[in-house]
Amino acid sequence: MELSTRLDTVIESQTLAMTKKARELKEKGHDVINLSIGEPDFDTPLSICDAATVAMQQGDTHYTPVLGSLKFRQAIQSKLKRENNLDFELNQIIVSNGAKQSLFNAIMSIINPGDEVILPSPFWVSYPSMVKFAGGICKEIRSSIESDFKVSAQQIEAEITDKTKMIIFSSPCNPSGSVLSLKELQEWVSVLEKHPNITIVSDEIYEKINYTDKFISIASFPSIKDRVVVVNGLSKGFAMTGWRIGYLAGPIELVKACEKFQGLISSGANSIAQSAGCEALNGDQSEVSRMRDIFENRRNLMYEHLKNIPGIKVNVPEGAFYCFPDVSYYLNKSHNSYKIKNTEDLCIYLLENALVSTVSGDAFGSPECIRLSYATSEDLIVESIKRIKTALEQLK
Ligand SMILES: Cc1ncc(COP(=O)(O)O)c(C=O)c1O
Repeated sequence: MELSTRLDTVIESQTLAMTKKARELKEKGHDVINLSIGEPDFDTPLSICDAATVAMQQGDTHYTPVLGSLKFRQAIQSKLKRENNLDFELNQIIVSNGAKQSLFNAIMSIINPGDEVILPSPFWVSYPSMVKFAGGICKEIRSSIESDFKVSAQQIEAEITDKTKMIIFSSPCNPSGSVLSLKELQEWVSVLEKHPNITIVSDEIYEKINYTDKFISIASFPSIKDRVVVVNGLSKGFAMTGWRIGYLAGPIELVKACEKFQGLISSGANSIAQSAGCEALNGDQSEVSRMRDIFENRRNLMYEHLKNIPGIKVNVPEGAFYCFPDVSYYLNKSHNSYKIKNTEDLCIYLLENALVSTVSGDAFGSPECIRLSYATSEDLIVESIKRIKTALEQLK
């Protein structure tokens, strides 16, 4: 069959590719520890599942409006006010099948071929593919472990041209776990407020998995708020990846465009998941805090073990559930005839020799790093880092 060329710019997500490889080895009977996962290992809190059951029993089983059900959008509106002190009208909010679709809606609605999009690196793997799919040009800005994987306001300013249409970033960041502080956000804002044509897409999906004192949205700066697109969802903080619910809050014209685009491809999101989402956002938050606390203990554990591996540079991630060590010390080393030319080779080496699956930093714009997820048990964290250490010791 002759397929269209439209998908030629889309490369398979490396996270999914590693997960697939790890699964294949597991199916062959190997004891693989999966650190390439991008989802909480917890099940969805029971109170949220109960709300879904009630919704189904009460006949909440029909199409919802493309924008999302009124009661869920009201729940999002009050969450944004209560937790982030952000005012959004209901017609500034659209619910989608996950934050991924929210991001794609925004990019497809705003980016024309040739428009430039600033991506502070490391960035989430899907951003560049989505931008390229829309015909946009990615302007990656490099950072390193030395700057805690954060780019400065000056670096952003240097990358802005008259074609710059958007900047996309996540804080807490997948993959680095870095969280932008109030001061760092202020500095970014002082540059961005000089460029009114730039839309700021703030991916806040890891908001609830944050070990700093407080989460701050860049939308809370009045000078730029009218062109910030807040993207969030239920997947990570509420352990609801399979429910596929995300949302976007931003300018009315954008929301209208997203409604048109989403109306074309998928319509309104799942009715039952939206009803359960009301409970997630407005109900008791103790399970959310419990999961966050467990993640923080695991973060500490993984960090303590990783920092003892010779040659590895690691920082203390302040959010999400990943460590992102710089492993460049091991590049160009070999095991027998297998030479580690890049971090992708290293990940394959670790999968085959340590039976631990990780993800190369390449796809995240940081080719000197690998991403290790600690969304797994403490025992497996300790065992996997032990195995990684042993395998790395064999590289000469
Ligand atoms: C930074 C970031 N944004 C968005 C998403 C997409 O989340 P969702 O499950 O809501 O589509 C992910 C999922 O891995 C992510 O890591």
